[in-house]
Amino acid sequence: MKCFSEGKLGDAMTKNVPIINIKNVSYRYEQEPVLTEINLSIHSGQFWGVIGPNGSGKSTLLKLLLGLLEFKQGEIELFGEKIRAFQQWERIGYVSQKANSFNSGFPATVFEVVRSGLVKKTGLFRPYPKDIREKVKKALDKVEMGAFIDRNIGELSGGQQQRVFIARGIINEPDILILDEPTVGLDVQRVQSFYQLLKKLNQENGLTIMMVTHDFAAMSEGLTHIALLNRQLIFAGQIEEFKMDDIWPQFLYGPQEPFVYYQQSGGHGDA
Ligand SMILES: Nc1ncnc2c1ncn2[C@@H]1O[C@H](COP(=O)(O)OP(=O)(O)OP(=O)(O)O)[C@@H](O)[C@H]1O
Ligand SMILES: [Mg+2]
Repeated sequence: MKCFSEGKLGDAMTKNVPIINIKNVSYRYEQEPVLTEINLSIHSGQFWGVIGPNGSGKSTLLKLLLGLLEFKQGEIELFGEKIRAFQQWERIGYVSQKANSFNSGFPATVFEVVRSGLVKKTGLFRPYPKDIREKVKKALDKVEMGAFIDRNIGELSGGQQQRVFIARGIINEPDILILDEPTVGLDVQRVQSFYQLLKKLNQENGLTIMMVTHDFAAMSEGLTHIALLNRQLIFAGQIEEFKMDDIWPQFLYGPQEPFVYYQQSGGHGDA
């Protein structure tokens, strides 16, 4: 298996340290709890889909993982290190929600967008401009967008823009790529080819992926693991172990009152 950064990944694999380890984390913005007692471990080589409806706390979970929100309860470890001490952020690639919504007037080329993800290197090891262009081209080739390097970002379709943002997310050769709602705004066909691309990056390049989405169709496309989130984790495990029928009511209506739907709709009597 070809890896993005074999040395670093090798460390994580031999020690079997999870890339992401969320331990009993709860979070509230003000009064209302948004996440309750979340436990989730993501290991090297896995492709996780974190699936939940609007407002279920998906983006909040990602912001906690990326150190953008402070939490009081629980602990998050990245590569075995407590998040408050963690500094190797270049090992984590991130594509945010709504990354692909540039209009045609946006004054940046594909090259500039991808380059903007590069973590600045200082001193003797600062790369030459030629090396930077090669790095950008290599990342774009991985998402089949190498030919678009000098095009204006705003002239590309939503699906092409999304691929460019994946290239930006992997420019530092991270160990894990985290994506928030990457398929919003794409038509069905483009969604399929986008999932194929992620599957390829996972299976052929050994890139660990955590994708957050409300798209249930994502379940069938190359995921190795699935987490169902509705403010609590309803399920987290291997995709083969996932049985939709058992947990569908809990997922929609929360684990506290799993069968409310059946009672309210009345008369089914199968709750
Ligand atoms: N900065 C904030 N301050 C207060 N409440 C917030 C804030 N951000 C999000 N929330 C609330 O927290 C809950 C979870 O929001 P979050 O954005 O994590 O959900 P989500 O699962 O990502 O939703 P979506 O599918 O719409 O992206 C929502 O009820 C939201 O209104
Ligand atoms: Mg969100």
